[in-house]
Amino acid sequence: MTRDEMAAADRPTILVVDDDPHVLASLIDELSEQYGVTPAADGEAALEALERQHFDAVVSDVRMPGISGVEVIRRAFELDRDIVRILLTGYSDDAARVAAATPGGAYKLGKPWGEEFGIVLRRALEQRQAAIRSRDELMFERTVREQTEQAISRLSKMAAVGTLVAGVAHELRSPLACLTANLQALPQVAVQLDPLLERLQVGLESATPDGVDFIAALRARWREDAPAAAAQEIKQIGADCLDSTHRLQEIVDGLRTYSAPARRARYRAVELERCVARAVRLVASEYKRGVTFRTAVTPGLGGVIGHEGEIIQVLVNLMLNAVQAMGGRGTIDVRVRCTEKNVLLEVEDSGPGVPEDARARLFQPFFTTKPDALGNGLGLWLSREIAVRHGGDLRCVARPPPGALFVMELPISRDGDDDDGNGNGDG
Ligand SMILES: Nc1ncnc2c1ncn2[C@@H]1O[C@H](COP(=O)(O)OP(=O)(O)OP(=O)(O)O)[C@@H](O)[C@H]1O
Ligand SMILES: [Mg+2]
Repeated sequence: MTRDEMAAADRPTILVVDDDPHVLASLIDELSEQYGVTPAADGEAALEALERQHFDAVVSDVRMPGISGVEVIRRAFELDRDIVRILLTGYSDDAARVAAATPGGAYKLGKPWGEEFGIVLRRALEQRQAAIRSRDELMFERTVREQTEQAISRLSKMAAVGTLVAGVAHELRSPLACLTANLQALPQVAVQLDPLLERLQVGLESATPDGVDFIAALRARWREDAPAAAAQEIKQIGADCLDSTHRLQEIVDGLRTYSAPARRARYRAVELERCVARAVRLVASEYKRGVTFRTAVTPGLGGVIGHEGEIIQVLVNLMLNAVQAMGGRGTIDVRVRCTEKNVLLEVEDSGPGVPEDARARLFQPFFTTKPDALGNGLGLWLSREIAVRHGGDLRCVARPPPGALFVMELPISRDGDDDDGNGNGDG
């Protein structure tokens, strides 16, 4: 592209509409030095041009055969809320006056036009540029903010997983050990059936036609070979193995749900009881030695629409704070109950409580009273963001020490509120 071509590409574009060829020619003449001008000889041609191309401004005569100038600028506004619209009319025209009277509406100038026409056009185009720029900046800011928050949220989640990983690994070990022991025992039990099977085979091969001897021999040894006990044992081993794999599955699913990136489009009905169970399991896997975890979930709670991983994240954050405040010893109560409009998820601990001077700053990002390695001051901020994103809130209940109580309120969804219209879950 040459310099001239680049300058031409940067120039504001203007659609000029008039059914009088002389007027049209003189408008083109006046504007084409500064602007990229597209002429249209009537309203219909103007509408076609609007559908085809994007303009910064439309300058139109009002009275034209067929489609009027008022109609042209109305369509232009539908297509672009920021487009500059100027009506030029030699008449005192009611429709044009109305079109010009609305705030942010069209300009209406008389014909023949004077130098104010050029000034109005330039100013309006500058305002349009400024409006577009500030909207772009706002959009950019919002996108950056959202992406940053997502990144922080993920990092903070991963940091919590880091804190919990030893416990989770330990938690995985017990069902794994159970699986190993059972699978080792299985062949030994199966071996017990071998003599019986062998005897059956020999007996069947040598049995007399009436089989009486064979059946009598079998009956005599039945108790000794104990096939029913062996079969029972094999069934039991199978059941124990299955139980272990379920436990493993549940832990792995919990971790997966917790770590899944949250997308608003994937909000769906959340099973709060399972959220609580998974969050407690994650934290208890690391801290159950010193801490007693108690849960109480009111049966028949109203549904909440959201992201299970995010709700688990809030509960994990609150419980980790509680564990840290209690120095790893004490009791944590996690309760879920309902008011008329909200579900309340409460995490209460038996620690020293939140100091009065910290209360006002608890939810600010980077506020922490912990040494570097223990806290970034992001847990509560992120948790509140999550609650707000779900249409609710998170607060710390003011009360005398000891103990702290945090409550997340989430709105109860009406049936079928599910955002996840396409049925996609995080799986
Ligand atoms: N249950 C609680 N009891 C007493 N103080 C608490 C409790 N929960 C939070 N706080 C106070 O609030 C501060 C902020 O908590 P927040 O979870 O936001 O950050 P953090 O735990 O310090 O760091 P991070 O969560 O990023 O690891 C904590 O440093 C602590 O002083
Ligand atoms: Mg924290």
